[in-house]
Amino acid sequence: MNVFGKHYRTIWLKPDDPGVVQAIDQRLLPHQFVIVDLTTTEEVAFAIKDMLVRGAGLIGATAGYGMYIAALHAPRHSRSAFLEAVRADGDKLKATRPTAVNLEWAVERQWTAIQQGQDVEDMIEIALQTANAIADEDAEYCRRIGEHGVTLIEAISRRKNGEPVNLLTHCNAGWLAFVDYGSATAPIYAAFDRGIKIHVWVDETRPRNQGARLTAWELGQHGVPHTVIADNAGGHLMQHGLVDLVIVGSDRTTYTGDVANKIGTYLKALAAKDNGIPFYAALPSSTIDWNMRDGVKDIPIEERDSDEVRMISGLHNGENVSVLLTPETSPAANYGFDVTPSRLVTGIITERGICEASEQGILALYPEKKTS
Ligand code: MRU
Repeated sequence: MNVFGKHYRTIWLKPDDPGVVQAIDQRLLPHQFVIVDLTTTEEVAFAIKDMLVRGAGLIGATAGYGMYIAALHAPRHSRSAFLEAVRADGDKLKATRPTAVNLEWAVERQWTAIQQGQDVEDMIEIALQTANAIADEDAEYCRRIGEHGVTLIEAISRRKNGEPVNLLTHCNAGWLAFVDYGSATAPIYAAFDRGIKIHVWVDETRPRNQGARLTAWELGQHGVPHTVIADNAGGHLMQHGLVDLVIVGSDRTTYTGDVANKIGTYLKALAAKDNGIPFYAALPSSTIDWNMRDGVKDIPIEERDSDEVRMISGLHNGENVSVLLTPETSPAANYGFDVTPSRLVTGIITERGICEASEQGILALYPEKKTS
């Protein structure tokens, strides 16, 4: 997608130095656009944990490049020493964040691929090709999600005789959360590019405000009309006919259709259900957990530093600053995600099409995942 009119992905190899991975430091957006160099697995792990990079697809792509960096720096004197070091680095990467399944998926995809190599040089080359493949596939799958999801927006636009379609989204499942296009935003960009009149309500998404900081910024860069709202406003807007469609992303979706996404998503799904508004989750298949049946019970929910709740950050006199919001001594809890049960999800938009949020619906799109 475009930043100040120039095309960017969220992660790439430095053109004149393929030992360096480059990414946009999302902690500084929307007020500063800074690109960082990542050269060691420690730096890659820190980038994921501290959320320089974030969002399920981008975490997966970053882990893919992290495994390539691990391979580049692993000892080369023996195959077993090389593989042992790469495995240890892969485990460090996997331990950075618990909820987005794309992280584990990318590390294990790399691990399986790397072990096919004949010798160390071959394994490094395979790690490079696999990292690029994960990133390219992420972008292409999001593009396809856009092609499928736009049909929902087109149908509403027709029903409204071309009046603007009002969408609501939570957190940032935009191109910044992936390599390009985004999942929840891909249908939005596709609709806008086709000239369909749309408007997006952007949940601010406390505590880290990915909606207010990131989704608003990337929609603005693309020229998509949008309005940032406080997290609590969605229900009111829905009651007054001001939301036609909700599209959110996901960090992990069970093969039965339970959707983990940024904290607060479940409340929006409840409000959508109460108001008869379609609620879709958009996600590539790398976000589907093929081993997990009960999302509410089993999806690990990240708990982050309580200071993310106690403090709030923004621009002041040209500088990014953090200020204390709560009483000094009040404790705070910071649950990063919640799970929306499949019964509240109208459908899932994937790179293969739109399906019902159920085991039957998902496996109809991915028949190769049927176990019996
Ligand atoms: O904590 P984050 O920013 O990594 O959380 C991820 C998200 O942005 C959302 O949950 C998003 O809607 C799904 S990730 C594509």
